[in-house]
Amino acid sequence: MNKISFAFLVAAAGLMTSCGGGSDKPAGGDSTAKAVDSTVKAFDASAILPDSASFRSTVDGKPTTLYVLKTSNNAQAAVTNYGARLVSLLVHDKKGALIDVVDGYDSIGKYVNQKETYFGAIVGRYGNRIAKGKFKVNGKGYTLAINNAPNSLHGGTKGFGAVVWTGRQLTDSSVELTYLSKDGEEGYPGNLSVKVTYTLGADANGSALKIDYEATTDKATVLNLTNHAYFNLNGQGSGTINNHLLQLNADTYTPVDSTLIPTGKIEPVAGTPFDFQTPTAIGSRIDSSNIQIKYGKGYDHNFVLKAGKGPGLNWAATVLGDQSGIVMQVATQEPGIQFYGGNFMTGVSPLKAGKKDDYRTAFCLETQHYPNSPNQPSFPTTELKPGKVYKTTTAYMFSVKK
Ligand code: GLA
Repeated sequence: MNKISFAFLVAAAGLMTSCGGGSDKPAGGDSTAKAVDSTVKAFDASAILPDSASFRSTVDGKPTTLYVLKTSNNAQAAVTNYGARLVSLLVHDKKGALIDVVDGYDSIGKYVNQKETYFGAIVGRYGNRIAKGKFKVNGKGYTLAINNAPNSLHGGTKGFGAVVWTGRQLTDSSVELTYLSKDGEEGYPGNLSVKVTYTLGADANGSALKIDYEATTDKATVLNLTNHAYFNLNGQGSGTINNHLLQLNADTYTPVDSTLIPTGKIEPVAGTPFDFQTPTAIGSRIDSSNIQIKYGKGYDHNFVLKAGKGPGLNWAATVLGDQSGIVMQVATQEPGIQFYGGNFMTGVSPLKAGKKDDYRTAFCLETQHYPNSPNQPSFPTTELKPGKVYKTTTAYMFSVKK
C-alpha cells in the first residue's frame, strides 16, 4: 500500500514554521496531535461506508461508482466520480472510535436529486461567486448563468460537482479523477483538462486526506477549484457545530456587499465577529448585529490567509469537535479560505445513516482564491493561460485532543 505520512504532511504544511508560538499556535497544536491509541478498538456502528452498489449507476450516459480509500490505522474515505465528491471520511475520535466527519448521501440518486447540491463536491470551474456572472479575459467578455441571483455561484447551473468524472483507483489509499470541461461549457472559455487526486494517509499522530488539483487549458480562462465538504467533527448529522472551536490563520478578510460579492477592501478581523485568531466557539458571535454577519446570515465569508514562511502547504485553520475531541487542521497553497457555517441548511435532505442536514449542523472551509477575483484586479489572479499548469494542494489532518 502506498502510504503517505501524516508527519510528512505536517512538515510539508509548514505548520511548525508558519504557526510560530503565542496566539498563532493552532488549537490542538503539538500537545493534541497525540497518537491514536491503537489498542482501543471501539467502533461506532453508524460510521460505516455506504454500500458501493448504491453508487453503481449511469448519469448522463456515463457510469458512476464509489471508490474506497483505506489506510493502516483503519481510517477510511469514500469518493464517487459523480462530481468527484468526498462521500464519507471516517477518522478516529478521542476514544478510538471511527466517526464519519462529512455530510453526504448513501446513494447516487440522492446526490443527483436532493436539494443540497454541494456535499463533498469538487467545485468549479470557478468556486464561489462571480458578480453578475460577467468577466473578461484578454479584453473579451464572457457571460455565465445567474444561479445565485444576481451572481453566478460555484461554476453555474451544472458545475463540476454535477458532472460525471473519469475515475481511476491508483492505490488502496488514493484515487484520481479527471474531467474535460469543454470550451464554452457553462459560458467559460477554453477546453480545460482537470485532474483531482484524493490520497488518504495515516501514522501514529492520526489521519490525513490530501487533495491535489491540476489543470491545463487551450485558451486563457479563469479557474478556482475547491472542495465543498460539509464537516461536523462530532459526526455528520449529530447536531449543531456552534460549539466547535475554530481558529483561522487570518488577521484580515474580504468584506462583502449584500449579495456576498467582496467590496474589494481587505479589512482587519480584530474587534469583529470575524476574529478567529485564537480558538473560538463558532456560535459565540454568530447572531451578532454586525452588518457582515447579517449579509451572510451568519458566516459565509472569505478570509485572507497569512502568507506561509516557506514552500509547501501553509496552515489555514484548526477546528476542534467539542464532543469527539477530533482536531482537524487544514493546510493549503491557496491564498484564501471561505468559512461557511451551514446557514442555508434546511433539514430536508436525508443524510447517510438516516441523519438530518439541519440548520448549522455542518461547516465548510473551502480553500480558494478570493470570490469575484476575475473582476478585482487587486486580488491574486485566477487566470490560467495555455502552456501553464494550474497546480494546488490542500490537506485536512486529523488528530485528537484527549
Ligand atoms: C458556499 C457559498 C454559500 C452557499 C454554499 C452552499 O459556501 O458561499 O453561500 O451557497 O456554498 O449552499
